[in-house]
Amino acid sequence: MTDKLKALIDRLEAEHTLKKEEWVALFDGYDDETREYAAKKARETAQSVFGNKIYIRGIVEFSNVCKNDCLYCGIRCSNSNAVRYRLTEEEILSCCDEGYKYGFRTFVLQSGEDHKEYPASRMAEIVRMIKKAHPDCAVTLSLGEMEYEDYKLMKEAGADRYLLRHETASKELYEKLHPQSMSFEHRMQCLKWLKELGYQTGAGMMIGAPYQTSEHLAEDMLFLRSFEPHMIGTGPFLPHSDTPFRDMPKGSYELTLFVLSLCRLMLPDVLLPATTALGTIRPNGREQGVLSGANVIMPNLSPTAVRKKYMLYDGKICTEDSSDECRSCVQARMKSIGYEVEITRGDHR
Ligand code: 5AD
Ligand code: FES
Repeated sequence: MTDKLKALIDRLEAEHTLKKEEWVALFDGYDDETREYAAKKARETAQSVFGNKIYIRGIVEFSNVCKNDCLYCGIRCSNSNAVRYRLTEEEILSCCDEGYKYGFRTFVLQSGEDHKEYPASRMAEIVRMIKKAHPDCAVTLSLGEMEYEDYKLMKEAGADRYLLRHETASKELYEKLHPQSMSFEHRMQCLKWLKELGYQTGAGMMIGAPYQTSEHLAEDMLFLRSFEPHMIGTGPFLPHSDTPFRDMPKGSYELTLFVLSLCRLMLPDVLLPATTALGTIRPNGREQGVLSGANVIMPNLSPTAVRKKYMLYDGKICTEDSSDECRSCVQARMKSIGYEVEITRGDHR
């Protein structure tokens, strides 16, 4: 580690911001020692905010039907090998009921962009139903891009949070990862609406997405700094064999850990999951994510029968496991590194 990089990490810790060329220098020049230096500081920062407590969120992947055709994603509409499914209201609620028994106090409803079948009005009803059954729980939505009125309707129905990764803060890169029918501006507009409507809002990007450079990552950090999301979802890009990116190299595990640490140092309070993709690229990736500054884990609550069908990338973990297996697995993994799972909503403070 050079003195210059060490000084940048020290300054990030003190001032929570860096200039674009400084971010680029970190991403271009980091080695294991730099990464571990940042991880130690990030871990200490996370501990000063959250102690040794890890928040858990149960994800219900309720539909893998998607109208979009993102080039990286296994459930893109052109993937005719994907076996599509949709869960009913009753099935969704029973996942949440089961999750509640295991101590989940946040339910994340995630799907492809299946807005014809699940318009905002239907989602609002589902949110009301979950809130009625479990008034002490937070509901997070992750449904992709919609319109202002849609987000408003679901917020009024009681939704607390919304996850919409920006994917990349670079319009030029955005257009390499998405079909022409999708718009960088609209995605950014959605994020602004969500925050304005009072959602605890999550942004984020993949690490090592095809064509991504240090400059692009620097732009992501600048965007995250100025947008100040409540949550940042980030994991390595992993290729899916039925997509145009099937032969692209996967993202770097080490770089993902480094980015997690930098996110923690930049936004000390941010809710930062150690993602499923991180657990997929390395068997103990999520533990290492926590030791690099992450404070959230999002185990799967989807019915075992559909898990293999929600394949965004090859090799996704937990597709053979039941909800209670994932729940105890996560608890044991956290315990093994000296952390405890906390049974609360885990709101942003
Ligand atoms: N590898 C890693 N992450 C992916 N995502 C989608 N496809 C992949 C992939 N092939 C991420 C996107 C999306 C989130 C739900 O999953 O960032 O926003
Ligand atoms: Fe699903 Fe470990 S979290 S089996």
